[in-house]
Amino acid sequence: MSGAASAIELQDFGLAYARGDGELVLLENVDVSIPAGGFYLLVGESGAGKSSLLSLLTGLWEPREPAPRITGRVFVFGMPVHRRYPAALRRQVAAVLQEGGLLDDLSPRANVELALRAAGRSPKLALGLLSQAGLDRPPSGVAELSGGMRKRVAVARALAADPRLSLFDEPTAGLDANAARSIAKLLLETHRAAGGRRTTLVLTHELPAFEGLADGSCGSIGGVAARARARQQTTEEAGMPGRKAAGRGLGS
Ligand SMILES: Nc1ncnc2c1ncn2[C@@H]1O[C@H](COP(=O)(O)OP(=O)(O)OP(=O)(O)O)[C@@H](O)[C@H]1O
Ligand SMILES: [Mg+2]
Repeated sequence: MSGAASAIELQDFGLAYARGDGELVLLENVDVSIPAGGFYLLVGESGAGKSSLLSLLTGLWEPREPAPRITGRVFVFGMPVHRRYPAALRRQVAAVLQEGGLLDDLSPRANVELALRAAGRSPKLALGLLSQAGLDRPPSGVAELSGGMRKRVAVARALAADPRLSLFDEPTAGLDANAARSIAKLLLETHRAAGGRRTTLVLTHELPAFEGLADGSCGSIGGVAARARARQQTTEEAGMPGRKAAGRGLGS
């Protein structure tokens, strides 16, 4: 089974990095199925392996980087990504990285225009995307942005590709509770604006910001030797808007 009906499917998935003589095992025997079209959270504490998983799902491993040892299988829209990342997915998957990935020398508008050009779309859409992200009058320099505004520009950049799958790595990190909540709501609004064409997955350890917003939590990734029961949970939780976004410890 390639999990074609799922946006993301992890089958007996494991991820480990070489450490000295041994290995740092982050994930083991994880089975997660994320249905297409929903807004989901994947919860994990610091160091659980969220950013590593995001790199795999977006094909961000640099060939020169020491890649982790991957076991099991991982599919995005039915396409395997655990060996070579399929070129066909690059246009369909957009990620906001933990660091935001903005070019500080450019204006917020130019940052979004760049992403639009990269996606083969008109740069004229930039102001509309920034406005959708809550920045009606963006300042001229990225350096002038507050932390919350930077996140908004990063969201606008990610939307530039009109992705089928949007991944957000800790999008509320470093923000106060109010700013975090408004970013969480923004992510849901932009998800809904895509009218069911998009799957959104937020990797986070900050549950309160997302309380009541997600269609479901596809479980928490809990560090070493996580044991997944998430397939069953996800099936139960799919299509339940407003469900409390509670993480479930896969290893508990
Ligand atoms: N390229 C790499 N080579 C070796 N070890 C790595 C590499 N990338 C990450 N790690 C280690 O893997 C563990 C998980 O890192 P990762 O960044 O995926 O976790 P995370 O869940 O995103 O954490 P955080 O919430 O702090 O961002 C950490 O202990 C980290 O040091
Ligand atoms: Mg991380």
